[in-house]
Amino acid sequence: MSNRLQTDQIQELDAQHHLHPFSNHQSLRANGPRVIVRGEGAYIFDSEGNRILDGMAGLWTTNVGYGNKELADAAHAQMIELPFYNTFFRTTHPPVVALSRKLAELAPANINRVFYGSSGSESNDTAIRLARHYWVLMGEPKRRIIISRRNAYHGSTIASGSMGGMTHVHHHSYPLYEGFRHVMDPYWYGESFAGETPEAFGLRAAHAFEEEILRCGPENVAAIAAEPVQGAGGVKIAPDTYWPEVQKIVDKYGILLLADEVITGFGRLGRWFASEYYNIRPDLITFAKAATSGYIPLSGVLVGDKIVDALMEHDDDFNHGFTFSGHPVACAVALKNIEIMERDRLVPRVSEETGPALARMLARFKDHPLVGEVRSVGLMGAIELVADKKTRRRFADPGRVGLICRDHFFREGFIMRAVFDTMVCAPPLIWTGPQFEEASAVIQKALDLTLADVKGEITA
Ligand SMILES: Cc1ncc(COP(=O)(O)O)c(C=O)c1O
Repeated sequence: MSNRLQTDQIQELDAQHHLHPFSNHQSLRANGPRVIVRGEGAYIFDSEGNRILDGMAGLWTTNVGYGNKELADAAHAQMIELPFYNTFFRTTHPPVVALSRKLAELAPANINRVFYGSSGSESNDTAIRLARHYWVLMGEPKRRIIISRRNAYHGSTIASGSMGGMTHVHHHSYPLYEGFRHVMDPYWYGESFAGETPEAFGLRAAHAFEEEILRCGPENVAAIAAEPVQGAGGVKIAPDTYWPEVQKIVDKYGILLLADEVITGFGRLGRWFASEYYNIRPDLITFAKAATSGYIPLSGVLVGDKIVDALMEHDDDFNHGFTFSGHPVACAVALKNIEIMERDRLVPRVSEETGPALARMLARFKDHPLVGEVRSVGLMGAIELVADKKTRRRFADPGRVGLICRDHFFREGFIMRAVFDTMVCAPPLIWTGPQFEEASAVIQKALDLTLADVKGEITA
């Protein structure tokens, strides 16, 4: 069967039977999805035989790259030994114990326990329930409000979607689940006043939390929730003044801090957890994605000693959990994934080599006529496309130019994601010089092609 025929058939069956996440189904039907059939190292391959450099690590996920046989072998061995058993009814198993011990070693010092799920959304729902349950146990049941940020992405379930701050996610589920408030995100390029320094802006953005705490009444606030770096919101990197000030506010009002590390966990910022990079002390850290490099679903919440102590001291059930909490095969793969990352020094390499290489690569494009700002931290970065560099004027119909650019990337064999008109990347941690060179050449070409497409709209 020719490649084209095979592709047509897969696309047709997909169109008939598959509903995709986060999609406009009408335009997907009209254009058809690209069929990805294989992955190897830093590359994926489509059904037409095209090799594509994956600048998004799947979806912030495949940290050790594709086609890793060691991970497949770990899954195979565990499936033969014990493919599944639950951890509900006074049972446990070796892989979940070994992984929990390892995660306690990698996590910040005040964290020694793990609660498991299978997705980032589940881990955030778990953290929300844990935070509220904690305050009930502490005799302060009124503390239910969780303050997060506009543009945050915390997942797609009703609770995690409500904790997130994306209006286009909210609008499917009005009214939002109760008890969530949203404050500004620390997005200096997009939200600072004229002449406001990043430092001053960082403090102002942090104080938005305090203002909201006071509006709600501190006695009603359970937690602040935030991604250390907003990922799906467009790789928004807070100025240096932001996190120290947020930590001060958390301490001042004695509320919990929930760090959503579903993207930043497992090395993306050159530390196992970004909480360490930013020197914050969360009570709850949620993780998913790269815990297994995406080879099998696994998520969890790293739960701080303060909360665990409250659970231990009270004769009260925490009625929450999932059939697949602590799935043995997923735990075995996560353990092997961590072993590989440690052996190959993938996390320190982000600080020493790959992160600086990404920053250098992006810096090459800052003077391009379409580019308003380039930014990166560790191995996640963004190129923001604007119609006017001087005034930061956006293009009409946000997202249109981002998609044009994304399609040029795709056609040139490279994946970056478009968040409206911001092109974001988060490569696997295994990239070396040749991948950065290849990506750089494609970005130059795709930006030039996009510029040609929208030339009439920009102010040079
Ligand atoms: C920061 C963050 N939290 C939570 C989630 C939700 O994870 P999942 O899609 O596994 O439910 C995501 C997904 O991209 C995310 O980026």
